[in-house]
Order: sequence, then C-alpha cells, then structure tokens
Amino acid sequence: MERIVISGPSKLYGSVKISGMKNAAVAVIFGTIAVNDECIIDNLPNISDVNLSLELLKNMGAVVEKLGETKYRIDTRHISTIMAPVEEAGKMRASYYIAGASLARFGVCKVGLPGGCDFGERPIDQHVKAFEAMGAKVRIDEGYIDASAVGGMKAANIYFDCVTVGGTINAILAAVRSDGVTVIDNAAREPHIVDLANFLNFCGADITGAGTDTIKIKGNKQLHGCEYTIIPDMIEAGTFIIAAAATSSRVLIENIIPKHLESMTSKLSETGIVFEEGDDTLLVKSNVSELRPVNIKTLPYPGFPTDMNPQTAVLLCSISGVSRINETIFSDRFRYVNELRRMGASIDIENSIATFNGGQRLKAANVRAVDLRAGAAMVLAGLVAEGTTSIEDIFYIERGYDNIVEKLSSLGAAIKKISIEDFT
Ligand code: EPZ
Repeated sequence: MERIVISGPSKLYGSVKISGMKNAAVAVIFGTIAVNDECIIDNLPNISDVNLSLELLKNMGAVVEKLGETKYRIDTRHISTIMAPVEEAGKMRASYYIAGASLARFGVCKVGLPGGCDFGERPIDQHVKAFEAMGAKVRIDEGYIDASAVGGMKAANIYFDCVTVGGTINAILAAVRSDGVTVIDNAAREPHIVDLANFLNFCGADITGAGTDTIKIKGNKQLHGCEYTIIPDMIEAGTFIIAAAATSSRVLIENIIPKHLESMTSKLSETGIVFEEGDDTLLVKSNVSELRPVNIKTLPYPGFPTDMNPQTAVLLCSISGVSRINETIFSDRFRYVNELRRMGASIDIENSIATFNGGQRLKAANVRAVDLRAGAAMVLAGLVAEGTTSIEDIFYIERGYDNIVEKLSSLGAAIKKISIEDFT
C-alpha cells in the first residue's frame, strides 16, 4: 500500500505546469467510439481515470497507441463489442459515456453502472431521460445500462430537470450521429463540455451552443478522425492556487485558460489573495495571516466549482475568522471534514453549509483520502500543518492528479510517496 507523506509547514516558490483536464479527457476518449475512425489526442494527463478509459476502449477492440508523454493514437474502427463490464466500468464515473457513444454508433449498449467518488446520491435518471427521448429503450438491470434504439437514435428536444455535466455529455454523444437536430435545454456549461463539442466538430460534427444552456446537435453519420489537444485542468489549477495561498507563497501557475478560473479567482480575491493574469499563466501571491474570511456557494459552471470545495476548505481553516461553504451540488461532499477535524480544524456543518472557525494552525495527523478532491485537500492540509502528515488511500488522488507529488516537490514542498507493506 502506498502513502503520501508531507512535512509541514511548507513554503512554495517557482512555477508549475498544469496538465490536461481529466473531465475533458475521459469525455473525448469515449467520444472516439462515436467517431468510428482514427484520432490523435494530445495533452492527456497521466492519471488512472485516463489509463482506465484507454484500457476499457482496448477491451472493446479499439487500437490505442502511445505516441508521446501525453499523446495517443486511438482507432475505434474495429470495435468488436458494445459491452463494458461492470467490473471495469464500476471503477470510475465517466465509463457511462460509453453508453451514449455506443448508442450513437451501434444503436445499442450494455455498460456496467458507473462508480466514481461517493459523495451522496448520484442518479443517472437524466441520462436515461435523454436516451429515451431519442428513441432508445433503456433498462437498468443487474448492474448494467442496457439500451437499444431500433433504427438508431433519433433527434429530439431534451430538457434536463437539473443541470448535469454527465447527462449533457451523454446526450451530445448519443445525438451526434442521429438524423435531424437535437436540442438540449438546461444544459451544463462546463469547459469540458465545450472541449468535447470542439473535438466532435473537428471530426465533422455540427454542434452549436456548447458552453451555453442550449446546445444544438445536427447529427452526421459521416464523422471522421482528427488531431485534438485537450484543454488544461481548471481544477488542478485551482488546487495549486489554494496550495500557494494557504502557504503564504508566490507561485506562477502555467498552461491555464484564465477564463476557466474566473469563478475561483474572483471569489478568492475577496480574501485578499493577489492574482496576476497572463495569457496562459496566473501568478498567485498571498500572506495567509492577512487574508480575510469569505462565504462561498458552489454552483454549476460558471459558478464556484463543487470540485474545489474540499481544497478551499483548507484555506478557510487557515484564515482567521468565520468563513462558510454552501454546497449546492452534492449531498455528501463534506466527507473530508472529519479528516480535517483530526488535524485540529474547527468546522461545524448544518445541512449544506459548513462553517469554518479559521486561524488555528492545523496539526499533522494520519489521514485518509475519502474521495478524489478530498484527497487533494489532505495534501494541502499536510502542506500547512505543523509536523508530518501521512495520507492513505492515495489511489483516489491518482485518479485525477498527474504527478502531484513531483509538482509540489519541485515547488519546494517536503513531500514524498512511500510504500507501506501491508501488515496482514
Ligand atoms: C461531473 O460529475 C464530474 N465528473 C465531477 O467531477 C463533478 O463534481 C460534477 O460533474 C459536477 O461538476 C466527471 O466529469 C467525470 P452531474 P457528474 O451529473 O456528471 C444530479 C471530479 O472531482 N444528477 O453534473 O456525475 C447529481 O446527483 C469529479 O473530477 C441527477 O439528479 O455530475 C448532482 O446532484 C467528481 N440525475 C448534480 O445533478 C442525473 O441523471 C450534478 O451532477 C445526473 C445528475
């Protein structure tokens, strides 16, 4: 078993380069099923969710060839099955994109129900609603999404009852080869949805409105391969913003799209953190002892991302005064709080609001990563805490962060990954 060990408190300095965006990468990788040709995808992050996605494709019969550190050739012309077994699909959330892409290409899919971080109820009723609107018969049976559309998927008007990233992506994938124009209303507006739409349009699709709450997909059965580069990961960038701010450091974050970070930087600048924006860089300067408490509400993009809740909590624990996070997306996003309390954090939770009585220095402890972003928060807590923090279950962190230990170490953090023999 491996652990991440951090000796704090740390000061950071220098620059860090952000990797490709996990949630865009997995959408584009599974989107190649619908394209039915050879694609060259670059800037794929070296994370387990991407590696597992590529494995799932290979198990379906796709040819996947690594061309460089972040570059792959993916050829889905010879996919021989529409089946994605639950044993594999259940290891991550995005595997359910195989359903939308397979329905588009084959009119049928049998995909194991997805796994992913456990922060409360994560239904897929809106995905099913979209597939059924396009003419598919969908059964959720024995752990599988079992669907078929006689004569293929048909264009439809879809209105999502809630803003859903995965539902929007799956609806785009399912509609991309259908006859006619599909309209998605109340669509999610995240940058990774725009990235998927751009990729599919490079492949000959005709998708307009991605990034707004109304997306139109004019289906096209003659899609073709393309070369595409994934956008940088805004949540990884946000994580390094908090790392710099909470340790009173000055860090240059490189390879970003400033627009994607605006909801974070505008809110976090209320604390007094100084941001200097370049074309594809962000300089973060902070002295945590001078920062002011702040109230944050997580919202769908372009609101403050729920995926930044745990990391930001570490900063709020360090800022003197009372701050709050109101989590409006996931019902059980605060699972990380008990781990922070083990480090001396004073946090009260009432319904969807966490109140941080900040200003006391956290103390090192042995903690667990309870999900992907909670794990990242534990790393940040180890950077600010007095003493040596040890983090277990780091596989969660490695699902979504490319070389976080090496990146933080290059910024001056006393951090390493160690193997602990299982004492059975
Ligand atoms: C995506 O999850 C991301 N995962 C999550 O990132 C992210 O936290 C989330 O979007 C919100 O931004 C990937 O992109 C692989 P949703 P997803 O569907 O698609 C409800 C990370 O840290 N809902 O937008 O599962 C749902 O319960 C991961 O990188 C329904 O009710 O999120 C939730 O309350 C964690 N019915 C809300 O919508 C549905 O059919 C938003 O969920 C679908 C969703």
